[in-house]
Amino acid sequence: MYQNNITRLFNIEIPLIQAGMIWASGWRLASAVSNAGGLGIIGSGSMYPAILEENIIKCRQATTKPFAVNIPLLYPDIEKHIRIIIDQKVPIVFSSAGNPKTYTAVLKQHGIKVVHVVSSSKFALKAQEAGCDAVVAEGFEAGGHNGREETTSFVLIPAVCNAVSIPVIAAGGIATGRQMFAAMILGASAVQVGSRFVASDEASSHINFKKAVVDATEGDTVLTMKQLTPVRLLKNKFYQQVQEAESNCISANELAALLGRGRAKKGMFEGDLEEGELEIGQVSALIRKIQPAAEIVKEIWAEYLSLSQYPHK
Ligand SMILES: Cc1cc2nc3c(=O)[nH]c(=O)nc-3n(C[C@H](O)[C@H](O)[C@H](O)COP(=O)(O)O)c2cc1C
Repeated sequence: MYQNNITRLFNIEIPLIQAGMIWASGWRLASAVSNAGGLGIIGSGSMYPAILEENIIKCRQATTKPFAVNIPLLYPDIEKHIRIIIDQKVPIVFSSAGNPKTYTAVLKQHGIKVVHVVSSSKFALKAQEAGCDAVVAEGFEAGGHNGREETTSFVLIPAVCNAVSIPVIAAGGIATGRQMFAAMILGASAVQVGSRFVASDEASSHINFKKAVVDATEGDTVLTMKQLTPVRLLKNKFYQQVQEAESNCISANELAALLGRGRAKKGMFEGDLEEGELEIGQVSALIRKIQPAAEIVKEIWAEYLSLSQYPHK
């Protein structure tokens, strides 16, 4: 059986993590990945507290294996989410988009493993100082919200590995076993895969969005809205409006008004490919079909194993 510092930390079989993703990763996807031997993550960023609680309960009914919850720390109802996670005895939390100092200690007091997502060595060190058990180093290629540094995975992974002594999980631009192998050679102990799992049967994303991901080619995504929070998305009519507004030098407040509320839900959950926001990574250019999540885990892992006589850490 394969083992390294991440499989031991999470008590999983395969060092492959399905990323927490708004409007995509509910209990169905998370439990399917955990049942396949990886680590599934419920993305709480698009869930009201009661919905998160329901997802945790259903995930536990669907798998006996470990699973995690992702909490974007800027979420308005964060205190309620933290309470639910503690009460429901969720074993692992992946925090992102905020200061890891705020909640890491309290979660750890309850025996919860904490991992924080970072986009630079500087923030990786801060996560380590805050007591995190591991970090996710997320490169510029990644789908969704992203760092301002714009460091690509190929540079970020070794840089973060040099900076910290806790295990590093690589994210951004990884959808195949070959890419996983490259990330592990660069020093990562595991990979976090997002975009490829959007194109899975179990993702709660709208079928129109899944099909758009499969159809995407190189150059179809862009990192935009840097005045607010940078986000990588598929270019569409909504993006053109953003681009036009930015070329007219609108203020951050005006940009926030254009974004409005519910754009991400409209695009990724309701399937409005023109007016909605469609968060996805560059690696969509390599994703060619919608598959069961377990098949995705199997394929990536089989390709990885065929390439490596894995180093044990
Ligand atoms: C549709 C979508 C939604 C995402 N939502 C979140 C989120 O809620 N919280 C978070 O920390 N990261 C989020 N991300 C980033 C992923 O967790 C992950 O780090 C990223 O997708 C990895 O890069 P990849 O897309 O190239 O696989 C999202 C990504 C996508 C594609």
